[in-house]
Amino acid sequence: MTEWHTASAPGKFVILGEHSVVYGKPAVVLAADRRITCGVRRGRRNLLNGEPMEFSRQPHFRYLTRNLRHAVEFVTRSDIPAGAGLGSSAALAASVALALESMAGNDPDERKLVDEAYGAELAAQGNGSPMDASACVHGGGIGVNIPGTENRKLWRISRNGRVWNVSDVDVPKMTFVIGNTGIRAPTGPQVDKVRRYASRSNFATEMIEEIGNVTLSGYEALRKGDVETLGRMMITDHKLLSILGVSCKELNKLVNAALPFSYGAKLTGSGGGGCMVALTDDPHRVASAIEARGGTAYIMNAGSEGARLETSLPDGPVFNVPVI
Ligand code: PMV
Repeated sequence: MTEWHTASAPGKFVILGEHSVVYGKPAVVLAADRRITCGVRRGRRNLLNGEPMEFSRQPHFRYLTRNLRHAVEFVTRSDIPAGAGLGSSAALAASVALALESMAGNDPDERKLVDEAYGAELAAQGNGSPMDASACVHGGGIGVNIPGTENRKLWRISRNGRVWNVSDVDVPKMTFVIGNTGIRAPTGPQVDKVRRYASRSNFATEMIEEIGNVTLSGYEALRKGDVETLGRMMITDHKLLSILGVSCKELNKLVNAALPFSYGAKLTGSGGGGCMVALTDDPHRVASAIEARGGTAYIMNAGSEGARLETSLPDGPVFNVPVI
Protein backbone atom coordinates (compact mmCIF):
# COMPACT_ATOMS: atom_id res chain seq x y z
CA MET A 1 0.00 0.00 0.00
CA THR A 2 1.18 3.52 -0.72
CA GLU A 3 1.65 6.09 2.01
CA TRP A 4 -0.99 8.52 3.23
CA HIS A 5 -0.74 12.25 2.50
CA THR A 6 -2.54 14.24 5.15
CA ALA A 7 -3.56 17.90 5.39
CA SER A 8 -5.90 19.96 7.54
CA ALA A 9 -7.70 23.31 7.26
CA PRO A 10 -9.60 25.42 9.79
CA GLY A 11 -13.27 26.32 9.75
CA LYS A 12 -14.18 29.97 9.83
CA PHE A 13 -16.73 32.39 11.17
CA VAL A 14 -17.85 35.61 9.57
CA ILE A 15 -17.95 38.55 11.92
CA LEU A 16 -19.32 41.00 9.34
CA GLY A 17 -20.49 40.97 5.73
CA GLU A 18 -21.83 37.52 4.79
CA HIS A 19 -24.25 37.49 1.86
CA SER A 20 -23.40 41.07 0.80
CA VAL A 21 -19.88 39.77 0.02
CA VAL A 22 -21.43 37.65 -2.74
CA TYR A 23 -22.21 41.02 -4.43
CA GLY A 24 -18.63 42.28 -4.04
CA LYS A 25 -19.23 44.19 -0.77
CA PRO A 26 -16.71 44.07 2.11
CA ALA A 27 -16.53 41.29 4.69
CA VAL A 28 -14.39 40.28 7.66
CA VAL A 29 -13.92 36.60 8.46
CA LEU A 30 -11.74 34.81 11.02
CA ALA A 31 -10.31 31.29 10.98
CA ALA A 32 -11.78 29.13 13.76
CA ASP A 33 -9.86 26.84 16.08
CA ARG A 34 -11.67 23.77 14.74
CA ARG A 35 -10.38 21.85 11.75
CA ILE A 36 -11.08 19.22 9.12
CA THR A 37 -8.25 16.79 8.37
CA CYS A 38 -8.07 14.72 5.19
CA GLY A 39 -5.77 11.82 4.33
CA VAL A 40 -5.42 10.49 0.79
CA ARG A 41 -3.49 7.65 -0.86
CA ARG A 42 -3.54 5.77 -4.14
CA GLY A 43 -5.99 2.89 -3.96
CA ARG A 44 -7.57 0.16 -6.02
CA ARG A 45 -11.03 1.73 -5.70
CA ASN A 46 -12.29 5.22 -4.86
CA LEU A 47 -13.15 5.08 -1.17
CA LEU A 48 -14.27 7.64 1.39
CA ASN A 49 -13.73 6.53 4.97
CA GLY A 50 -13.75 2.90 3.88
CA GLU A 51 -16.99 3.11 1.84
CA PRO A 52 -17.26 3.32 -1.96
CA MET A 53 -17.07 7.00 -2.93
CA GLU A 54 -20.33 8.27 -4.38
CA PHE A 55 -19.00 11.14 -6.48
CA SER A 56 -22.54 12.19 -7.44
CA ARG A 57 -23.18 13.00 -3.78
CA GLN A 58 -19.72 14.43 -3.15
CA PRO A 59 -19.28 17.43 -5.45
CA HIS A 60 -16.13 18.63 -3.65
CA PHE A 61 -14.34 15.32 -4.17
CA ARG A 62 -15.64 15.03 -7.74
CA TYR A 63 -14.27 18.48 -8.60
CA LEU A 64 -10.94 18.13 -6.81
CA THR A 65 -10.16 14.72 -8.35
CA ARG A 66 -11.24 15.75 -11.88
CA ASN A 67 -7.67 15.44 -13.28
CA LEU A 68 -6.69 12.22 -11.47
CA ARG A 69 -6.11 9.14 -13.62
CA HIS A 70 -6.10 6.58 -10.80
CA ALA A 71 -8.32 5.58 -7.88
CA VAL A 72 -7.79 7.14 -4.43
CA GLU A 73 -8.81 6.43 -0.88
CA PHE A 74 -9.78 9.33 1.36
CA VAL A 75 -10.21 9.48 5.10
CA THR A 76 -11.65 12.59 6.74
CA ARG A 77 -11.98 13.71 10.36
CA SER A 78 -13.64 16.89 11.57
CA ASP A 79 -14.52 18.81 14.67
CA ILE A 80 -16.40 21.46 12.67
CA PRO A 81 -20.19 21.02 12.75
CA ALA A 82 -21.42 20.46 9.18
CA GLY A 83 -23.87 22.74 7.38
CA ALA A 84 -23.78 25.21 10.27
CA GLY A 85 -22.13 28.27 8.69
CA LEU A 86 -18.70 27.45 10.11
CA GLY A 87 -17.04 26.77 6.78
CA SER A 88 -17.04 22.96 6.89
CA SER A 89 -17.46 22.88 3.12
CA ALA A 90 -14.52 25.22 2.40
CA ALA A 91 -12.32 23.55 5.04
CA LEU A 92 -13.05 20.16 3.46
CA ALA A 93 -12.16 21.54 0.03
CA ALA A 94 -8.94 23.19 1.27
CA SER A 95 -7.70 20.13 3.16
CA VAL A 96 -8.53 17.72 0.31
CA ALA A 97 -6.86 20.06 -2.23
CA LEU A 98 -3.65 20.25 -0.17
CA ALA A 99 -3.56 16.49 0.53
CA LEU A 100 -3.97 15.79 -3.22
CA GLU A 101 -1.16 18.24 -4.09
CA SER A 102 1.06 16.52 -1.56
CA MET A 103 0.25 13.12 -3.08
CA ALA A 104 1.23 14.52 -6.51
CA GLY A 105 4.57 15.65 -5.06
CA ASN A 106 3.69 19.36 -5.39
CA ASP A 107 4.27 22.16 -2.91
CA PRO A 108 1.41 24.49 -3.92
CA ASP A 109 1.19 28.15 -2.99
CA GLU A 110 -1.92 29.45 -1.24
CA ARG A 111 -3.29 31.00 -4.42
CA LYS A 112 -3.39 27.60 -6.15
CA LEU A 113 -5.19 26.10 -3.14
CA VAL A 114 -7.72 28.92 -3.02
CA ASP A 115 -8.54 28.48 -6.70
CA GLU A 116 -9.04 24.74 -6.13
CA ALA A 117 -11.10 25.19 -2.94
CA TYR A 118 -13.25 27.97 -4.44
CA GLY A 119 -13.86 25.86 -7.55
CA ALA A 120 -14.99 22.97 -5.35
CA GLU A 121 -17.28 25.29 -3.37
CA LEU A 122 -18.89 26.55 -6.56
CA ALA A 123 -19.31 22.96 -7.78
CA ALA A 124 -21.13 22.18 -4.52
CA GLN A 125 -23.21 25.30 -3.90
CA GLY A 126 -23.48 26.83 -7.37
CA ASN A 127 -22.85 30.42 -6.37
CA GLY A 128 -20.94 32.42 -3.81
CA SER A 129 -17.83 34.39 -2.96
CA PRO A 130 -14.24 33.19 -2.42
CA MET A 131 -14.40 34.42 1.21
CA ASP A 132 -14.71 31.01 2.90
CA ALA A 133 -12.08 29.39 0.68
CA SER A 134 -9.69 32.28 1.39
CA ALA A 135 -10.16 32.03 5.16
CA CYS A 136 -9.78 28.24 5.25
CA VAL A 137 -6.65 28.28 3.09
CA HIS A 138 -4.89 31.32 4.59
CA GLY A 139 -6.16 31.17 8.19
CA GLY A 140 -5.81 34.12 10.59
CA GLY A 141 -8.05 37.05 9.71
CA ILE A 142 -9.27 37.90 6.22
CA GLY A 143 -10.69 41.15 4.89
CA VAL A 144 -12.52 41.21 1.58
CA ASN A 145 -12.78 44.45 -0.41
CA ILE A 146 -11.67 46.59 2.54
CA PRO A 147 -10.11 49.88 1.38
CA GLY A 148 -6.74 50.57 3.02
CA THR A 149 -5.68 46.91 3.27
CA GLU A 150 -3.97 46.86 -0.15
CA ASN A 151 -0.51 46.57 1.42
CA ARG A 152 -1.58 43.20 2.92
CA LYS A 153 -3.25 41.96 -0.24
CA LEU A 154 -3.31 38.18 -0.69
CA TRP A 155 -5.16 37.77 -3.99
CA ARG A 156 -7.76 39.17 -6.33
CA ILE A 157 -10.44 36.86 -7.62
CA SER A 158 -13.08 37.82 -10.15
CA ARG A 159 -16.13 35.97 -11.43
CA ASN A 160 -19.24 37.03 -13.36
CA GLY A 161 -18.26 40.70 -13.19
CA ARG A 162 -17.69 40.67 -9.41
CA VAL A 163 -14.26 41.30 -7.94
CA TRP A 164 -12.97 40.23 -4.53
CA ASN A 165 -9.71 41.75 -3.26
CA VAL A 166 -8.69 39.56 -0.36
CA SER A 167 -6.24 40.80 2.32
CA ASP A 168 -4.71 39.49 5.48
CA VAL A 169 -5.97 41.42 8.55
CA ASP A 170 -4.74 41.38 12.14
CA VAL A 171 -6.86 39.56 14.68
CA PRO A 172 -6.72 41.31 18.06
CA LYS A 173 -7.22 39.14 21.10
CA MET A 174 -11.01 38.88 21.45
CA THR A 175 -13.27 36.13 22.69
CA PHE A 176 -16.12 34.86 20.59
CA VAL A 177 -18.77 32.32 21.45
CA ILE A 178 -20.50 30.38 18.70
CA GLY A 179 -24.05 29.14 19.29
CA ASN A 180 -25.29 26.34 17.07
CA THR A 181 -29.07 26.06 16.58
CA GLY A 182 -28.58 22.46 15.40
CA ILE A 183 -30.65 23.23 12.32
CA ARG A 184 -28.78 22.20 9.17
CA ALA A 185 -29.12 24.85 6.50
CA PRO A 186 -27.00 24.40 3.36
CA THR A 187 -25.49 27.55 1.89
CA GLY A 188 -26.71 27.35 -1.73
CA PRO A 189 -30.45 27.84 -1.05
CA GLN A 190 -29.78 30.77 1.32
CA VAL A 191 -27.58 32.51 -1.26
CA ASP A 192 -30.28 31.89 -3.90
CA LYS A 193 -32.96 33.31 -1.63
CA VAL A 194 -31.06 36.59 -1.30
CA ARG A 195 -30.34 36.66 -5.05
CA ARG A 196 -34.06 36.27 -5.85
CA TYR A 197 -34.99 38.99 -3.35
CA ALA A 198 -32.31 41.37 -4.67
CA SER A 199 -33.34 40.77 -8.29
CA ARG A 200 -36.89 42.02 -7.66
CA SER A 201 -36.46 44.62 -4.93
CA ASN A 202 -34.43 47.82 -4.66
CA PHE A 203 -35.04 47.61 -0.93
CA ALA A 204 -33.02 44.37 -0.75
CA THR A 205 -30.23 45.94 -2.84
CA GLU A 206 -30.13 48.83 -0.37
CA MET A 207 -29.86 46.38 2.55
CA ILE A 208 -26.88 44.73 0.83
CA GLU A 209 -25.27 48.16 0.36
CA GLU A 210 -25.97 49.01 4.01
CA ILE A 211 -24.36 45.76 5.24
CA GLY A 212 -21.26 46.85 3.29
CA ASN A 213 -21.19 50.21 5.14
CA VAL A 214 -21.70 48.56 8.53
CA THR A 215 -18.88 46.12 7.74
CA LEU A 216 -16.46 48.97 6.98
CA SER A 217 -17.31 50.72 10.29
CA GLY A 218 -16.94 47.41 12.12
CA TYR A 219 -13.58 46.74 10.49
CA GLU A 220 -12.31 50.19 11.64
CA ALA A 221 -13.42 49.28 15.17
CA LEU A 222 -11.72 45.86 14.97
CA ARG A 223 -8.48 47.54 13.87
CA LYS A 224 -8.58 49.87 16.87
CA GLY A 225 -9.60 47.11 19.30
CA ASP A 226 -12.85 49.03 19.96
CA VAL A 227 -15.06 46.10 21.00
CA GLU A 228 -18.06 48.29 21.87
CA THR A 229 -18.37 49.71 18.35
CA LEU A 230 -17.58 46.37 16.72
CA GLY A 231 -20.32 44.75 18.82
CA ARG A 232 -22.83 47.44 17.82
CA MET A 233 -22.00 46.88 14.16
CA MET A 234 -22.53 43.14 14.59
CA ILE A 235 -25.99 43.79 16.05
CA THR A 236 -26.89 46.13 13.16
CA ASP A 237 -25.60 43.55 10.68
CA HIS A 238 -27.84 40.89 12.26
CA LYS A 239 -30.88 43.16 11.88
CA LEU A 240 -30.06 43.82 8.22
CA LEU A 241 -29.54 40.10 7.55
CA SER A 242 -32.89 39.40 9.25
CA ILE A 243 -34.59 41.88 6.92
CA LEU A 244 -32.93 40.06 3.99
CA GLY A 245 -34.71 36.94 5.24
CA VAL A 246 -31.76 34.76 6.26
CA SER A 247 -32.25 34.68 10.02
CA CYS A 248 -34.84 32.45 11.72
CA LYS A 249 -36.51 32.33 15.11
CA GLU A 250 -33.99 29.87 16.57
CA LEU A 251 -31.07 32.11 15.55
CA ASN A 252 -32.83 35.18 16.96
CA LYS A 253 -33.45 33.28 20.20
CA LEU A 254 -29.72 32.50 20.62
CA VAL A 255 -28.69 36.05 19.65
CA ASN A 256 -31.09 37.44 22.27
CA ALA A 257 -29.80 34.97 24.88
CA ALA A 258 -26.20 36.11 24.29
CA LEU A 259 -26.77 39.88 24.05
CA PRO A 260 -27.13 40.73 27.77
CA PHE A 261 -23.53 39.49 28.33
CA SER A 262 -22.01 40.45 24.97
CA TYR A 263 -20.81 43.52 23.05
CA GLY A 264 -22.71 42.19 20.07
CA ALA A 265 -24.09 39.05 18.46
CA LYS A 266 -25.32 38.03 15.03
CA LEU A 267 -25.92 35.05 12.82
CA THR A 268 -22.75 33.83 11.12
CA GLY A 269 -22.52 32.19 7.70
CA SER A 270 -25.45 31.72 5.41
CA GLY A 271 -28.14 31.60 8.14
CA GLY A 272 -31.57 29.95 7.96
CA GLY A 273 -30.31 27.81 10.87
CA GLY A 274 -26.70 26.99 11.63
CA CYS A 275 -24.80 29.29 13.97
CA MET A 276 -24.64 32.71 15.57
CA VAL A 277 -21.56 34.40 17.00
CA ALA A 278 -21.24 36.65 20.04
CA LEU A 279 -18.34 38.95 20.97
CA THR A 280 -17.92 38.95 24.73
CA ASP A 281 -15.62 39.27 27.75
CA ASP A 282 -17.66 36.68 29.58
CA PRO A 283 -17.62 33.59 27.34
CA HIS A 284 -18.72 31.07 29.96
CA ARG A 285 -21.79 33.11 30.86
CA VAL A 286 -22.69 33.54 27.19
CA ALA A 287 -22.13 29.83 26.57
CA SER A 288 -24.48 28.97 29.48
CA ALA A 289 -27.13 31.40 28.21
CA ILE A 290 -26.95 29.83 24.74
CA GLU A 291 -27.18 26.30 26.15
CA ALA A 292 -30.11 27.32 28.39
CA ARG A 293 -32.02 28.28 25.22
CA GLY A 294 -31.35 24.94 23.55
CA GLY A 295 -28.24 25.82 21.52
CA THR A 296 -24.81 24.17 21.54
CA ALA A 297 -22.07 26.62 22.49
CA TYR A 298 -18.39 26.64 21.47
CA ILE A 299 -15.94 29.16 22.88
CA MET A 300 -13.75 30.10 19.91
CA ASN A 301 -10.26 31.43 19.63
CA ALA A 302 -9.95 33.25 16.35
CA GLY A 303 -7.05 33.45 13.93
CA SER A 304 -5.95 29.79 13.65
CA GLU A 305 -3.34 28.68 11.15
CA GLY A 306 -4.55 28.04 7.60
CA ALA A 307 -4.29 24.86 5.51
CA ARG A 308 -1.21 22.83 6.43
CA LEU A 309 0.29 19.40 6.00
CA GLU A 310 -0.09 16.96 8.89
CA THR A 311 1.84 13.86 9.82
CA SER A 312 -1.20 11.86 10.91
CA LEU A 313 -4.96 11.91 11.21
CA PRO A 314 -6.30 13.08 14.57
CA ASP A 315 -8.92 11.18 16.51
CA GLY A 316 -12.31 12.73 16.04
CA PRO A 317 -15.55 12.20 14.21
CA VAL A 318 -15.44 10.86 10.66
CA PHE A 319 -16.61 13.52 8.20
CA ASN A 320 -18.74 11.99 5.48
CA VAL A 321 -21.22 14.74 4.95
CA PRO A 322 -22.23 15.28 1.34
CA VAL A 323 -22.51 19.03 1.04
CA ILE A 324 -25.13 19.35 -1.69
O1 PMV B 1 -22.67 29.19 5.62
P1 PMV B 1 -21.31 29.24 5.05
O2 PMV B 1 -20.23 28.83 5.96
O3 PMV B 1 -21.23 28.48 3.75
O4 PMV B 1 -21.00 30.80 4.70
C1 PMV B 1 -21.45 31.36 3.50
C2 PMV B 1 -21.15 32.83 3.36
C3 PMV B 1 -22.02 33.53 2.32
O5 PMV B 1 -21.61 34.89 2.28
C4 PMV B 1 -23.49 33.47 2.69
C5 PMV B 1 -21.86 32.91 0.93
C6 PMV B 1 -20.54 33.18 0.26
O6 PMV B 1 -20.20 32.40 -0.64
O7 PMV B 1 -19.85 34.17 0.58
